Amino acid sequence: LLKLGVMASGSGSNFEAIAQAIADQKLKAQVQVLLYNNPGAKAAARAEQWGIPSVLLNHREFANREALDAAIVETLQQHDVEWVIMAGWMRIVTPVLINAFPRRILNIHPSLLPSFKGNRAVEQALAAGVKITGCTVHRVVTEVDSGDIIVQAAVPVLPDDTLETLHDRIHIQEHRIFPQAIALAAQGQ
Ligand code: GAR
Repeated sequence: LLKLGVMASGSGSNFEAIAQAIADQKLKAQVQVLLYNNPGAKAAARAEQWGIPSVLLNHREFANREALDAAIVETLQQHDVEWVIMAGWMRIVTPVLINAFPRRILNIHPSLLPSFKGNRAVEQALAAGVKITGCTVHRVVTEVDSGDIIVQAAVPVLPDDTLETLHDRIHIQEHRIFPQAIALAAQGQ
């Protein structure tokens, strides 16, 4: 049983997809804790519905990224977490977190990396006029949106797409590949 700690900043639909995959016995894991950084994030309400403990670590209350990450590490360790799952975590992480869980931190990004790194990846893809984009699950290293790619899925960009319609279509693929990627990464693939 993989002991997961999930980190989310907003809606938490990827967190929910992981919880659902576990409930459906498609992923042999357990979510030990949900960490979130924005008060009122919908992810926290989802955690409550699943009976998963959640902890708010509001980045605005920390002096710098390292101080936030130190609190994250402490909370994850307190909850006996082995694998860290960044599911819509919108903060840059530092070696303080990365070195505490070597090769055991995964992130999901809404583009086919290495294209469109950073914030607003879906917006970047629309602006670039690409006809295919998608999503990527990768290991987290200090360089943002780099690190070994575990799984990717392609998503077509349709002529009438808006940010919202395209991101909705990407989300569907994210929810499918994230549980798979966690299992594959844990198997060392
Ligand atoms: C997801 O599309 C994820 O790929 C993206 O935020 C969304 C979170 O959705 N992450 C990033 O852009 C990371 N830079 P969710 O809260 O519904 O899971």
